[in-house]
Amino acid sequence: MSSPVQSAWDNLRALPNRTLVELFEDGERVGKMGGRIEWDAEEGSNGILFDWSKTHLSDELLGGFEALAAATDFGGKRAALLTGEKINVTEGRAVEHTAQRGIGAEPSVEEAMALHARMRMLVEAIHQGALGEVKHLIHIGIGGSALGPALAVNALTRDLELVDVHVVSNIDGVALEEAFAACDPATTLVAVASKTFTTIETMTNAQSALKWLSDNGVTDPSGRVIALTASPEKAVEWGVDETRILPFAESVGGRYSIWSSIGFPVALAVGWDEFEAMLAGARAVDVHFSETEGRHNLPLRAAFADQYYARLRGCETRAVFAYDERLGLFPDYLQQLEMESNGKRVTSEGEPVNGPTAPITWGGVGTDAQHAVFQLLHQGTHLVPVDFIASIAPGDALDPAHHQILLTNCFAQGAALMAGGNMAADGKDPARAFPGDRPSATMLCDDLDAATLGALIAFHEHRTFANGVLMGINPFDQFGVELGKKMAKDIEGGEASFDPSTTELLKAAGLGG
Ligand code: F6P
Repeated sequence: MSSPVQSAWDNLRALPNRTLVELFEDGERVGKMGGRIEWDAEEGSNGILFDWSKTHLSDELLGGFEALAAATDFGGKRAALLTGEKINVTEGRAVEHTAQRGIGAEPSVEEAMALHARMRMLVEAIHQGALGEVKHLIHIGIGGSALGPALAVNALTRDLELVDVHVVSNIDGVALEEAFAACDPATTLVAVASKTFTTIETMTNAQSALKWLSDNGVTDPSGRVIALTASPEKAVEWGVDETRILPFAESVGGRYSIWSSIGFPVALAVGWDEFEAMLAGARAVDVHFSETEGRHNLPLRAAFADQYYARLRGCETRAVFAYDERLGLFPDYLQQLEMESNGKRVTSEGEPVNGPTAPITWGGVGTDAQHAVFQLLHQGTHLVPVDFIASIAPGDALDPAHHQILLTNCFAQGAALMAGGNMAADGKDPARAFPGDRPSATMLCDDLDAATLGALIAFHEHRTFANGVLMGINPFDQFGVELGKKMAKDIEGGEASFDPSTTELLKAAGLGG
């Protein structure tokens, strides 16, 4: 007998696929498939329009996915997420990034607020000169301890930059040397960001940063270090003074940690109020996600489309294009969020999953990407669902023509992917033919400010969680990164023997063998 989940999938597979043109015969479609999430702003309100009308989700498919959500107990799992139950079953942990935004169970919310208050005090003390003149921050971390800070600092520091932040993640010394070249050691602080405070890249880079400070005349280099970590005892062992350790809870996952003290460089660069605004934007999405049911829940609806393309249409990738230079790192951020969370092959119960899991997330910025990869999107043999992100308010102060051209290009790409056509005068040349019926979704922000960035990130966190629930996956562990790490350690320790190819490569590079 098939399980309710299996029946829901069987039902979904049996539903007809309608073309986008057919779907738009419903005159109400734009309204039905669009929705806004809003929050209070200084002047009135700000928000994001989520337009999923150019995807193939039909009323029947939405109904089928709602049945799948019920069969997978989406409502129960969402409640478990938001009330701090141990839903990261493989690691026996709660998952409490929303507590950082004030949504969750006590005492986690209260603890998060207390840690924020401590971070705020340090940020404001630095701004007021408590650690002498501070012009630069070298933020050292990797993965979730770097991608969020890099994204946010890049996106938000165009108008205001209280401290110049350089995020360094790679163990390749070139990355750190580039940061050194841009900073004056006498006015530089170093943030060491690591949930575990053991990651080899971060600890090696941190050691080299201390050496750089001392080689360049800083008498107390460790006095210039701030630790951002869920393992404060390890930071103390490493030599960081307790007053400069900003802890966060173990229940905050690395790729969900921008809201915790891992966000310190953001607050230092743009000020505490902006960091708070980022949290408030995320909170507005949390409230929507926790209170809205079925197809009207926008992150869940996005996950319905993700599942439709991955599992019912065989799409192996999904692309994200930000028509906003400030969001250049957003696709990189999403890659970790989505692929590290849902790139799994077994369910939470350890059973093989019953279909493909996370698609490969990729993308770039518009309009650059139009002149590089859009050829494949329009005429290639792969079907790639595309997300567009744009802001109505411009980020620049140049001639408004810049922003108008940017936005019209963004909208034109979505329209062209859907409509297709033939560019030949007689409409007959196959090389000039566009099949059309290619899906896209658009996230149109009123303005790309700190709150909007917070909302965009939180939307994708919840979308990722919803995808995990629909597939029966635990999105909150990441054992897949461990094997390669172990092998690198074995090589370093001279302990392992490898396959002939790896042995030759090691020999050729003068390592081991
Ligand atoms: O290697 C993967 C990973 O564990 C990520 O999930 C994490 O964000 C990153 O490494 C860094 O870990 P840490 O913050 O403990 O240094």
